[in-house]
Amino acid sequence: MTPASRAECEDLDRADPLGRFRSEFDLPAGLIYLDGNSLGAMPRNVTAALQKVAAEEWARGLIRSWNHAGWVDAGTRVGAKIARLLGAAEDEVVVADSTSINLYKAIGAAIQAGHDGWVLTDEGNFPTDLYVVEAAVRQFGAKGLRLVPRERLREEIRSDVDLVTASHVDYRTGHMLDMAELTEAAGAAGALFVWDLCHSAGAVPVDLAEAGVDLAVGCTYKYLNGGPGSPAFIHVSSRFQDRLRSPIPGWFGHQDTFAFGSEYAPAGGARRFQAGTPGILGLAGLEVAVDLWLDVDMATARAKSVALSELLIDRVGERCAPHGVGLASPRDPALRGSHVSLTHPDAHGVVQALGAAGVIADHRPPDLVRLGLTPLYTRFVDVWDAIEILAEVLDSQTYREAAFAVRERVP
Ligand SMILES: Cc1ncc(COP(=O)(O)O)c(C=O)c1O
Repeated sequence: MTPASRAECEDLDRADPLGRFRSEFDLPAGLIYLDGNSLGAMPRNVTAALQKVAAEEWARGLIRSWNHAGWVDAGTRVGAKIARLLGAAEDEVVVADSTSINLYKAIGAAIQAGHDGWVLTDEGNFPTDLYVVEAAVRQFGAKGLRLVPRERLREEIRSDVDLVTASHVDYRTGHMLDMAELTEAAGAAGALFVWDLCHSAGAVPVDLAEAGVDLAVGCTYKYLNGGPGSPAFIHVSSRFQDRLRSPIPGWFGHQDTFAFGSEYAPAGGARRFQAGTPGILGLAGLEVAVDLWLDVDMATARAKSVALSELLIDRVGERCAPHGVGLASPRDPALRGSHVSLTHPDAHGVVQALGAAGVIADHRPPDLVRLGLTPLYTRFVDVWDAIEILAEVLDSQTYREAAFAVRERVP
């Protein structure tokens, strides 16, 4: 049963076991932020952490900080913490580069290791995944790329498929695949599976060991709250670490980076997938956010995320249905990540009008209004109020105003 009044939402917020986390974030007063699925909110302690890295470690410590401020190990140290959040062993995850680059490294490594038959992916996969996988298939000489509808992925994993990649949670609809089932099916066909966890890490419970995952990549700036463009992670199961080599064998992935040897010898663990010098400022902000996550019980976060999304869907049904608003996300919460997508013929205008009325969501073409539910700082009253405001925008048709038709570079 979802709450039937704003007062009931307030009661739920008061009883919320995650309620204390909201004050850990620096959110503008009066704004309802439902876009943590694109860029997570900033943890308050980030400001001090960045100040420390810049003013003390960099300005005063200079080059000495690589040793004395823990810079040299930051990628593996933060990777180990993310590993704990994802149910992996500490040396199976390293933080480095972007998701796009990590995906390239993962796919390239798998093809180079002999998984060079057909590569399979979801035709609606995130664009960077499609571009990168297509290029990697060509450059590393796999047989070819097969694009199939997301709902057919399972049946298309056949014996001629050597490598599969997909987003665990779909960026458009929030549809969540069964990670364990698909990984097992790939393994039974002799294929490796590379998961994109951008909309999963910090959004839904993930247990990479239990699901038997081979390889995974993901970003840290959405639900993990690492900050704009914060570095991504790559997970490589210990089962494959010895036989997988990064196609970008940079010195930070070398066994002994500072031996300056002329021969490349890959490091053990996922560290071999680090390429160059880590971006310390980005890692510093990310580490603050990950430390916050280490105090969160993911089952509690998931329960709240589901409750928030159920409330949202019910309220949209009650308040907005007459206005041509549809649901693009699965109705079954077990098949949904932590965002809900609505359809509307003028989704762009609706998102702009919502923003002007104090509700930040985002738009994905052609017709989606995406609403992210981030249980560390989204309250039940936020969802209630956001849908009241959405209903007003639709009732008054303010979304038709000329100002809301202006397209910015980031939708
Ligand atoms: C599923 C998915 N993969 C990849 C990316 C982007 O990767 P990168 O961090 O390299 O820009 C996104 C960004 O939103 C995404 O949603």
